[in-house]
Amino acid sequence: MLSSDQKAIITATVPLLETGGEVLTRHFYAKLLGDNPEIRPLFNGAHQASGAQARALARAVLMYARYIDRLDTLGPLVEQIVNKHVSLQVQPDHYPLVGIALLQSIREVLGAEVATDAVIDAWAAAYGQLANLLIGAEEQRYAAQAEAPGGWRGGRPFRIARIEPESEEISSFYLEPVDGLPTSIAQPGQYLGLSLTLDGVEYRRNYSISAASDGQGYRISVKHQPGGVVSRYLHTDAHEGGVLQVFAPAGEFVLQESTKPLLLIAGGVGITPLLPMVSAALPSGRPIQLIHCTRHVGVQAFGHWLEEQAAHHPQLQLYFCYSEPVAEEAYASRLDRTRLQRWLPKDRDLDAYLLGPQPFMAQVRRDLLELGVPEKQIRHEFFGPATDL
Ligand SMILES: Cc1cc2nc3c(=O)[nH]c(=O)nc-3n(C[C@H](O)[C@H](O)[C@H](O)COP(=O)(O)OP(=O)(O)OC[C@H]3O[C@@H](n4cnc5c(N)ncnc54)[C@H](O)[C@@H]3O)c2cc1C
Ligand code: HEM
Repeated sequence: MLSSDQKAIITATVPLLETGGEVLTRHFYAKLLGDNPEIRPLFNGAHQASGAQARALARAVLMYARYIDRLDTLGPLVEQIVNKHVSLQVQPDHYPLVGIALLQSIREVLGAEVATDAVIDAWAAAYGQLANLLIGAEEQRYAAQAEAPGGWRGGRPFRIARIEPESEEISSFYLEPVDGLPTSIAQPGQYLGLSLTLDGVEYRRNYSISAASDGQGYRISVKHQPGGVVSRYLHTDAHEGGVLQVFAPAGEFVLQESTKPLLLIAGGVGITPLLPMVSAALPSGRPIQLIHCTRHVGVQAFGHWLEEQAAHHPQLQLYFCYSEPVAEEAYASRLDRTRLQRWLPKDRDLDAYLLGPQPFMAQVRRDLLELGVPEKQIRHEFFGPATDL
């Protein structure tokens, strides 16, 4: 428990962290991964290089410091961190490693004059409190994943049963457990964690589950990223029969129970978690509007599947738009506010789910707010470290 003096120190260091937060966390990551090579596979090198991961942690630390007296208000942030941690298998014994690196970084970056023993002690106590909160919530999640029918804890070997191209740059991978036993039912919108060892180096990545769970396995659909380690491997070297380690479904970007009209908006490969949402929402009869923006039809995945669903379910309306059309494509232009206004249902009391590149989501979110969609009914997910929209 933090003393009131320690709480005061934490509150007083917030402005300091606000100006130096990111430098601190960049320093901290170099230290953490330098001193502890065994935890490197959990962290995506590209996220480190772009600074996005450092920003996400800096943001979490700052929020924590700002709300030190009202931790309950951090609910959604904690949920997001817990899900990401669980999907990549963060364990209780990793927390002291992070704590040591964080406190050493505070000392080294701020210098002895600012980072007095009292400041370090206060942050050690605060980190311990936050770590315990996360460890407790993560253990609950691991236990729930293991106890669910078809569930498991840790890595479970899955075989690539089938590989199917969906567009020029996206392929689907159908994964079935090697043990032949049932698999848990994921909530529409959740993702898996995958672990692969390539040339002796382990990599972990998240992939959204792109089809409704059938209790026998999962489908993921992966875009071939130029220069990307895991997506390149999956697209060029992986073969049917190959085995991957899979961590149980996680994620809080899930379809909520509701009868309101449903608006799904995706950019590019961001369509993947929206597909099981479509499958889950169709039987309810609620109106569904799905907008998918891609560069051109050649890279657009799942258009035919969506059209098939719409043909059988008139409550599903589809809108495709193309930023770099190569032929006679409908709506050959970017999604802008005018188009959005035309396509949105009259009733703005709707549930919206967005996924795509950060600038795309930021623009769409702004437009939706200006068009009168309530903020708390707009949900989004990131295919990388969370940032501000
Ligand atoms: C919740 C979630 C769900 C996701 N769902 C999907 C999905 O359904 N489908 C999908 O395709 N993806 C999805 N992703 C993204 C996926 O996890 C991977 O990030 C993606 O496949 C790229 O991984 P990679 O190993 O191929 O590329 P990486 O090796 O991570 O590289 C990515 C890019 O960064 C560049 N890069 C790598 N290292 C460096 C460096 N040190 N310096 C500078 N640049 C560098 C690479 O050249 C490449 O362009 C999801 C991510 C999350 C978090
Ligand atoms: C109090 C301690 C911690 C806090 C506040 C914290 C916070 C965060 C935040 C905010 C994110 C980004 C979430 C997102 O993008 O959605 C994140 C991701 C992550 N965290 Fe933590 N974390 C803590 C401890 C740990 C520990 C102990 C580990 C284990 C080594 C760890 C490993 C990771 C990994 C692997 C990711 C994903 C990185 C990536 O996207 O490449 N974290 N954490």
